[in-house]
Amino acid sequence: MDIDNCTSWLEIDLGAIRNNIQQLLQISKTNVMAVVKANGYGHGMEQVARAAVQAGATWCGLARLEEAIQLHQSGVSCNLLVMGYTRPSFIQEAIARQIHVAVFDAQSAQTYATQAQAIGIPLHIHVKIDSGMGRLGIFPEEGVSFIRWLHTLPGLEIDGVFTHFARADEPSLPTTNQQLDRFCQMVQNLEQSGLRPKWVHAANSAATIYYPRARFDLIRAGVATYGLHPSKDAMLPDTFRPAMTWKTRLTSVKRLPAGHGVSYTHRYITSKEELIGATAIGYADGFRRRLGNFALVHGKRVPVVGTVCMDQCMLQLDSVPEAKVGDEVVLIGQQGNDRITIEEVAEAWGTINYDVGTGQAARVPRFYIE
Ligand SMILES: Cc1ncc(COP(=O)(O)O)c(C=O)c1O
Repeated sequence: MDIDNCTSWLEIDLGAIRNNIQQLLQISKTNVMAVVKANGYGHGMEQVARAAVQAGATWCGLARLEEAIQLHQSGVSCNLLVMGYTRPSFIQEAIARQIHVAVFDAQSAQTYATQAQAIGIPLHIHVKIDSGMGRLGIFPEEGVSFIRWLHTLPGLEIDGVFTHFARADEPSLPTTNQQLDRFCQMVQNLEQSGLRPKWVHAANSAATIYYPRARFDLIRAGVATYGLHPSKDAMLPDTFRPAMTWKTRLTSVKRLPAGHGVSYTHRYITSKEELIGATAIGYADGFRRRLGNFALVHGKRVPVVGTVCMDQCMLQLDSVPEAKVGDEVVLIGQQGNDRITIEEVAEAWGTINYDVGTGQAARVPRFYIE
């Protein structure tokens, strides 16, 4: 399929991904893990991972072993870490593919070790520390004894120890420094006990930029890889570039008389004769079913009117009388002198930019621009 035949598609700028990884390398001056879970935050896991590795990332981060297996099968050449939970019944796949997995409870560790021992190949693990996220992990105060115990289990290679921040995108708050203090104390104790693993890591995108002491041996950057701001309070430098453009086409342009209802439940009624366009984008593509959406047509911002349907929605085109069937419509990205950012769309949808990117439906094809 090529773009000319498409009615709705994403364009992913792999040059932007490479640029963003290079920025992260320059800023952090340490190793970079591109977090490519959730289909590369909606951008395409394999393509993003390949571009990130070309630009110098030496790790890719996944949430689940299923994702890591798929990435391993694609032949990408870097270390892979599953940051979430892995079922013990699945661990032999991780061992066979040398995929690193997170460990955060004794029972799983024991089962993992037994399997690794039976296979005769060590399992690479990173111990996850809960320094304040309240999600997965051993508390920092128990970290040294847990890691000492892990060393008694044959079959485990303890390659890393890591934590994750709950509020690094709110740099004015003390929370991240408090988490860091607890984590740093544990790392120091590990050093003194001769137990410090090779890879200590903590920073997500926001912490990479706003908390230099969180960089350690490796940073785990998700949202910054895609050129998206961690938050309004934790913006990226201007040198980062967003990688995603979302486009559709006008499929109909016609004049509706005054007082004419538009779309299901007639939530929009024309107030005069109006030029109304239909587009091939709907909630089944990830375009939220809410009022107040907007798009670019011929470089002009136009409102989406009426209820968003499953596969279509309507635009008010009075400001673009030259609009015609087949014209490109931009939902996210640049057209002419205007740009709709993912952040703007997220704000309109009452959510965060992460949610907009990962919410793109599988049926929307991705085209990759080098
Ligand atoms: C454990 C872990 N590390 C790193 C990241 C990347 O975070 P960000 O996208 O904010 O850089 C995530 C994302 O959710 C995560 O769960």
